[in-house]
Amino acid sequence: MKYLFKYIKPYILVVLMIFVFTFVQVQTELALPDYMADIVTDGIQYAGIVETVPKAITSKDMNELLLFTKDDEQILKQYSLIEKGNKAVVDNKEIEFIDDVYVLKEDYEDISSIIEMPIVSTYICHQQNLDVNTVDISTIQTNLKGLEENYSSMVKLYTGQLYRNVGLNCETIQTNYILISGLKMLGIAAISVVAQLVTTYLATKTAAKIATKMRKDVFEKVESFSSSEFSKFSTSSLITRTSNDVTKAQQLIQMMLRMMMIAPMMGLTAVAKVSQYPGVSWLLVVAICIIVAGMIVLAIFAVPKFEIIQRLVDKINSITREYLDGMLVIRAFNSQPQEEEKFDETNREFRKIDRFVSNMVNIAMPIMTLVLNGLTVAITWFSAKQIDLDVMSIGDMMAFSQYAMHVVMSFMIVTVMFFMIPRSLVSVRRIEEVMNTKNTILDDDNPETLPKENGVLSFNNVTFKYPGASESVLDNISFKANPGETVAFIGSTGSGKSTIIKLIPRLFDVSGGSITYCGHDIRKVKQADLHDKIGYATQKAILFSGDIKSNIEFGREISDADLNEAIDISQSRNILEENAEGIHTPITQGGSNVSGGQKQRISIARTLADKKNIYIFDDSFSALDYATDKKLRSELNELIKKTKSTVLIVAQRISTIKNSDKIIVLDEGKIVGQGTHEELLKNCDVYQQIAYSQLSKEELA
Ligand SMILES: Nc1ncnc2c1ncn2[C@@H]1O[C@H](COP(=O)(O)OP(=O)(O)OP(=O)(O)O)[C@@H](O)[C@H]1O
Ligand SMILES: [Mg+2]
Repeated sequence: MKYLFKYIKPYILVVLMIFVFTFVQVQTELALPDYMADIVTDGIQYAGIVETVPKAITSKDMNELLLFTKDDEQILKQYSLIEKGNKAVVDNKEIEFIDDVYVLKEDYEDISSIIEMPIVSTYICHQQNLDVNTVDISTIQTNLKGLEENYSSMVKLYTGQLYRNVGLNCETIQTNYILISGLKMLGIAAISVVAQLVTTYLATKTAAKIATKMRKDVFEKVESFSSSEFSKFSTSSLITRTSNDVTKAQQLIQMMLRMMMIAPMMGLTAVAKVSQYPGVSWLLVVAICIIVAGMIVLAIFAVPKFEIIQRLVDKINSITREYLDGMLVIRAFNSQPQEEEKFDETNREFRKIDRFVSNMVNIAMPIMTLVLNGLTVAITWFSAKQIDLDVMSIGDMMAFSQYAMHVVMSFMIVTVMFFMIPRSLVSVRRIEEVMNTKNTILDDDNPETLPKENGVLSFNNVTFKYPGASESVLDNISFKANPGETVAFIGSTGSGKSTIIKLIPRLFDVSGGSITYCGHDIRKVKQADLHDKIGYATQKAILFSGDIKSNIEFGREISDADLNEAIDISQSRNILEENAEGIHTPITQGGSNVSGGQKQRISIARTLADKKNIYIFDDSFSALDYATDKKLRSELNELIKKTKSTVLIVAQRISTIKNSDKIIVLDEGKIVGQGTHEELLKNCDVYQQIAYSQLSKEELA
């Protein structure tokens, strides 16, 4: 989590913006049910009448009202009397009155508390067919007992009646009210939509940016790994970590910026709104308890399975990878049935667990829907009772039901997140693991600089043990390679030839002794400087997708003359001539469209294209025929005479190394002979055995 925050930190301003816009979205979204309640209650039930002091009253109705109050004077003061046949403006409309009418003055005082009781009393009289002139005040008081909560709705209902008596068009009032409220709702909904779009856009963009950075960091980190760090993770695991795991982290960030922000905010605000309806809010508590309990059950059974699924996906991937890589061998050995069985086994296991998890989710979904629908029914049922008691209006019920859905949804999201986050954090941890891996091969703090000229490469009592291995692979290796010299290594497979070579560009560091170049310990110089001096053709020729030219240049600036020279020396010219596209002949991934020997030659050309102080060829001539091998070596010798570079050649064939200045014979990680071909033939048993097995007596002579 801390690691994730490190990445989010630079975007703190954006996060704040997302917070603000989420707040706006929540507030606007949750204002809508209130407006809807207003439309239903005030707009439909009370015909759009919201005022507590009537704007116009016929003189007959006014007289009736005044019967129930002593504040006649104060009420009348707020109105001007317009006589029958005259016109006046009421509710922004000019009306000609057919009766004497009291019209509320523009600058009226708020007399709602004074006029409420007379209106309610008159309303009750009309409801119960009582004569206003003779009715006993105490009768009215008994009738009104316990209805205090409903006074305001009575006022609204009776005001409607008063308006109709005046001749006002109540339908227009109602339509206007609903229209204006509707427009307000539309406006608010529009703001909410905009806020939602902005937050989604910002969250998606930020998450994508962070993921890009994370991917780049992991990639660069992996690039900096030495072979020993590589061996800690498998290649496919590193690929998954750079791709799949980063995507998971991206989803998590997006979820944090959207869901984790909106759900609690929405939930809390909706809870505040819901608590305005104490009569029914207990329903919510019940619903939430059921949902949370359901989620916990789901979590207990399903979440551990998620981890297994992830692992099985890994396994299926690795089996598929191996199958595809080894397709030719599998076909040749007719071992498809075994491979299929291996695949089927994992696939079946995967299907079993996947089906279990799917079933859990499949069961959970209808149950959730049932709970939600049950909640709606319960809300309607219990609200109906409240409406019956006149404590709640229909509009309130509708609003409550919407708020309740918001609360439940928010709770569901929060619970789901509680299970999702730990899952995604697994991916974050996997990325972190790569990032926290300490590089074992590092540049010295105060690096020494290598001279420009060629110098002596020297191994001084070098021993080496592969990381994690128990036994040394190289034991007390000492030799010198002078500028302009060709030094060859020969020995049986596994004798440590490639290992010696790998130590020179510091793919691994020596376990004991030292390697120096021009008198500088190679651990003391910058790796980049060291690599600049070395041209290295690996034992397994590696080509990259692109064309022949891009594979030889390999991102470096190579002049045409150098390029052609490298092509000629490496005997690659005929590869270009065989293909119509010449140097632009496409190379597929891993060089699968060229032969082994062609691959070797192109990789030799790559090694030679740039002028280096040391050239290393690790068994790079093995797939070449004798004639090509010979030609290549003689042209290579020409080049070395000119450049005075040091050449190290690993080979299995005596003929390849016969003319080398120095031959080093290895056996089980030890040097068992060192000298020229002739010297070794005389005094090295191992060399003699190799030589006799390969060359005829005449050749040896
Ligand atoms: N990455 C590694 N981790 C552990 N041990 C290794 C590793 N690479 C090689 N070895 C071991 O080191 C020993 C020497 O291997 P090396 O590759 O140097 O042999 P080689 O002489 O180049 O053989 P070949 O002629 O087959 O290329 C072998 O016994 C091998 O098992
Ligand atoms: Mg080797």
